[in-house]
Amino acid sequence: MADLTNPERRMLGALQGQDGEWSLEQVLSACDWDDQAVAVSAGHGLSNVGLVKIKEGSTILIQLGKEGVKAKENGLLEARIWTWIKSSDNPTVQELSNNFERHESGSGIGLLKGLGVRIEGGILVAENSDDVDLQIEERTKFIKELNVDSILKPHFDKRKGLIETVVTKTLTWRITLKGKSVPTSQLKETVRIAEITTELLQTDDWKDAEFRPYDVGLEAALPTSGRSHPMQALIERIRSVFLEMGFSELVDDYVQSAGWNMDALFIPQDHPAREMQDTFYLENPKSIKLDPALLKQWKNIHEHGGNTESTGWGGQYDVAISEKALLRTHTTVNTIQYLAKNPTKACRMFTIDRVFRKESIDRTHLPEFHQIEGIIMEPGANLGMLVTTLKTFYAKMGYPDVRVRPAYFPYTEPSLEIEVKWRGKWLELGGAGIFRPEVTEPLGIKDPVCAWGMGLERLAMLVLGLDDIRQLYISDLEWLANQPIL
Ligand code: PHE
Repeated sequence: MADLTNPERRMLGALQGQDGEWSLEQVLSACDWDDQAVAVSAGHGLSNVGLVKIKEGSTILIQLGKEGVKAKENGLLEARIWTWIKSSDNPTVQELSNNFERHESGSGIGLLKGLGVRIEGGILVAENSDDVDLQIEERTKFIKELNVDSILKPHFDKRKGLIETVVTKTLTWRITLKGKSVPTSQLKETVRIAEITTELLQTDDWKDAEFRPYDVGLEAALPTSGRSHPMQALIERIRSVFLEMGFSELVDDYVQSAGWNMDALFIPQDHPAREMQDTFYLENPKSIKLDPALLKQWKNIHEHGGNTESTGWGGQYDVAISEKALLRTHTTVNTIQYLAKNPTKACRMFTIDRVFRKESIDRTHLPEFHQIEGIIMEPGANLGMLVTTLKTFYAKMGYPDVRVRPAYFPYTEPSLEIEVKWRGKWLELGGAGIFRPEVTEPLGIKDPVCAWGMGLERLAMLVLGLDDIRQLYISDLEWLANQPIL
């Protein structure tokens, strides 16, 4: 009987002592238990293996309702009216309503009629006074004794609020022949060990102990373990995709000059995006000194196109504007500086980094976000190569449907917008193009440069199925714990 639990052993032991039906109270006292759930579950266990038979029954009990409690104290309505009738000199319906509450006189007359009281010329008269007495006495007795078997029960069932019937389920147990034949020696209670502790192992107790088997079918809480934030995990994945595609990573500062962030990229000095409402200009440092030779080059290019075929933007180039310090508005500021330092060495570079723009925060905008930037410079680099590279990247990220559309950036020609199909819709994820001569010429770059800059948070929204970008940056632990491992 190794598979009986201790309570089952104890209960079977008790039942072996006496035939017949055992009630819950009997089991509890014989087993010295006070928790009836223990008895019920032990009984079930024993019945499952055929050692005990369970009988389910029910008992019906009457309880006083709200009106019943009042009636028990002050007398039933018909009893009170009947007492009044008997003592009144003039028991008229009119007088009745003067002496009783309005709702009482109405139903009271009904009750008395049922007992054989009639109204004759407005006066309440009983045909047989003794009989009314007797019936009222019976009813009063019922309210006091609440006998379930009384023939008056149906009558009181119909009256509102006087009595309530309570049905309670009862269980009784009887030992089976099989149960009786279990030898007492097998009913010895053993210690069933659920947890192995150091103390247990240090003594010899474990030698005779019985171990509770594991129930692998039970529901268990999933342990939460440490892991990367989904944004970090995504950055990691993008990084490995670019590395796999033969790119090298570039890391640079986000405090930059307007010269590199904009002028180097042939963004006109009066371009609206440079305005205070779009760019975070810095107080400290307020400006960043730039190489005068470089400034001269940019001045030439901006004012009349320098040595290129371009006519430039015209107007007056302002060196003070170039030297203003700002928080980079795009990571193109870093790839262009890499090229300036390495103008003739073919390269494939990428960077995944933070950029800043004065955006008001909403479902799809943040003032700080990340861009996935990249360049390919080599002889013969062209638009087809650019598009293929971007398509390959998104395909590796799990988005095989990519298309490009013509776009405009001051620093590329041709310029494209990259779109990815997601849930049947085309979503714009970034810009790309081939750097214009106005950008490459002053820096001494000879080979064509494919360049792109894409939104990381936008991509994260796709990957994680979000419709609010802010979810990525709030400390929602429950959400974080439930994110897929990327
Ligand atoms: N810098 C652009 C942006 O911020 C993207 C871009 C990068 C476009 C490189 C063309 C070439 O959106």
